[in-house]
Amino acid sequence: MASKVKAKVRKIIIAIDGPAGAGKSTVAKLLAKRMKFLYIDTGAMYRALTLKAIRKGINFAQGRQLTGLAKKTRIDLENKSDGAIRVLLDGEDVSLDIRKPNISRFVSDTAKVPGVRKEMLTRQRELGSKASCVLDGRDIGTVVFPYADKKFFLDADFKERVRRRHKELKETVQGVSWEDVEKDLRNRDTIDSSRKCAPLKQAKDAIYIDTTEMTIEGTVKVLLENILGSSVDN
Ligand code: DC
Repeated sequence: MASKVKAKVRKIIIAIDGPAGAGKSTVAKLLAKRMKFLYIDTGAMYRALTLKAIRKGINFAQGRQLTGLAKKTRIDLENKSDGAIRVLLDGEDVSLDIRKPNISRFVSDTAKVPGVRKEMLTRQRELGSKASCVLDGRDIGTVVFPYADKKFFLDADFKERVRRRHKELKETVQGVSWEDVEKDLRNRDTIDSSRKCAPLKQAKDAIYIDTTEMTIEGTVKVLLENILGSSVDN
């Protein structure tokens, strides 16, 4: 008698870490699209919480208050069929608001609080258990998914990272200066990599890629080839 066997498909996790401006989110989004995986922008979760903290006038030195806020805040990440990503904060679409300079200025202070990270870690693992996905962040390969199927660490020269962030911000924010972007990246690099809890660090088994002189398409191709183990067409 033929028995019905429910095939259990193993979920695949691709982790992409690295500093701001190294091209992680653009590359991760395209990679997820090519592989038909879910894209999870973990930085957007810290950004959304930072927006709520600013709105509530929370002092960023008060870790306990930020942790309390994290516990009662709903953050949803939606992958739209046209490839766009929507970030919902307690149901409100904040996709554009969370990219503004005032959020970038404080997000590392939110993300360094251990209680906030613990809350986000649980949520990120839960999201990653639902489908095969590409996650980008700072601690995906080291803490969130240490057993990820593939890990990448994207990096680029500081000046090139500033150039990319400046170009991106100029499209939406009026009067954003090179100096402001430089200061923001330097500040975030310092806090993100020196914090005690889950600092930005390359996992031992991550593949390091310097994207300074690479195009986005070229970087996606390198990642795909590493994942599939064979050459791919553009
Ligand atoms: O990737 P991003 O620039 O949007 O991330 C915003 C901030 O969130 C970043 O400066 C550090 C923090 N972050 C983190 O600590 N851990 C992650 N997994 C993702 C982001």
